[in-house]
Amino acid sequence: MTLKLPRGTQDILPGEVEKWQYIETLARELCERFQYKEIRTPIFEHTEVFTKGVGDTTDIVQKEMYSFVDRGGRSLTLRPEGTASAVRSFVEHKMFGYASQPVKLFYMGPMFRYERPQAGRYRQFVQFGVEALGSADPAIDAEVIALAMSIYQSLGLKKLKLIINSLGDKESRNAHRAALINHFSPRIEEFCSDCKARLEKNPLRILDCKKDREHELMSTAPSILEYLNDDSRKYFEKVQKYLTNLGISFEVDPNLVRGLDYYNQTAFEIMSDAEGFGAITTLCGGGRYNGLVEESGGPETPGIGFALSIERCLAALSAEGIELPIHQGIDCFLASLGEEAKNYTVELLHKLRLAGFSAERDYLDRKIKGQLKAADRLQAKYVAILGDDELQANKITVKAMDTGEQVEVSIDAFIEEFTAIYKKG
Ligand code: HAM
Repeated sequence: MTLKLPRGTQDILPGEVEKWQYIETLARELCERFQYKEIRTPIFEHTEVFTKGVGDTTDIVQKEMYSFVDRGGRSLTLRPEGTASAVRSFVEHKMFGYASQPVKLFYMGPMFRYERPQAGRYRQFVQFGVEALGSADPAIDAEVIALAMSIYQSLGLKKLKLIINSLGDKESRNAHRAALINHFSPRIEEFCSDCKARLEKNPLRILDCKKDREHELMSTAPSILEYLNDDSRKYFEKVQKYLTNLGISFEVDPNLVRGLDYYNQTAFEIMSDAEGFGAITTLCGGGRYNGLVEESGGPETPGIGFALSIERCLAALSAEGIELPIHQGIDCFLASLGEEAKNYTVELLHKLRLAGFSAERDYLDRKIKGQLKAADRLQAKYVAILGDDELQANKITVKAMDTGEQVEVSIDAFIEEFTAIYKKG
């Protein structure tokens, strides 16, 4: 029997992994410019971090968590997302007391959800996310959205759609909640069991139901925007004004609900509208979660963030036909003729590498023709060829693979000479 990887996971092989590294590096660079600092939290947490944080009416908590009891009898869960962990850590390490506020964090790593795998939906996927804690300035909402957009735009993506909504503050949400209960209660029997359970607990989530999407009460449901109180409306207007000033186009969609319970005020998603992207078009999702720190045992602290997966980012790149400018090839291949010369390339190769060059030699006892082919395959910029006779004469030939130009240099000064040739290009 051959062993296979688990459903919904993937091996990322050399050749493909460079694309991941490219996106990861770009995200890190942008975080440096936007001043978000990396945080690394464990891959698993106590289960209640997510049941409390993400919310027990969500699909994630009800159906998708990889939970297990460890040998000490504790219930642990592989993290399905990063916000609950970041907030747990923020409270545990009393980051609310840091001199520098707001606390702006980013994370990157695997998340786990037991979902039905399909294109763009995995059971293990890599999220890059940011969280800004400690500021209720709408300018930071705009900053967080601008950071997400900058990542996609820096990758060359053009077919992007930003949708935003406001879920309002507590007061607005309570008024909207009552209106939703009024709206759905008389006919709740026509809805799925999940929706029935959501009616009292969190009726907003009914609007996000995949099964009852087509029910006529969905399109006539009261919109949150009609229930925003003055503060929430003004806040949302400011976010929009800042986005407009930043030249970021957006659409307001009152039906954008988001799948996690902790959201209030600003919510947003970035979608790809590239042709052929597939059914799942959401690349990135985020929003404000002003009550979450308090619910997690910390002082009242506003927060906002987003997360995006590298998998969907790559899918969007491929849908738009964008090739990432990934550096390939090596600086030097050391070819040899004869036993003595072959032995000597071991040292020479090591010296080249220590001097900062990417370099390779033959390990399969190939003839010189085979070695040159191998150099070609590795896209070597230069090949240095050493024969037994040359070794005796303290000489080595350096050949530029693009022009075919050759020079002979002394072996003793090889690293200096090669560096000079390389620099001249
Ligand atoms: P989310 O909408 O559940 O939000 O996920 C954010 C992003 O993660 C999605 O837009 C998508 O790119 C990616 N994603 C989610 N599930 C999968 C999957 N099964 N396969 C591939 N990619 C996936 C959150 O996770 C929130 N923590 C975001 C946030 C941060 N809100 C505030 N701060």
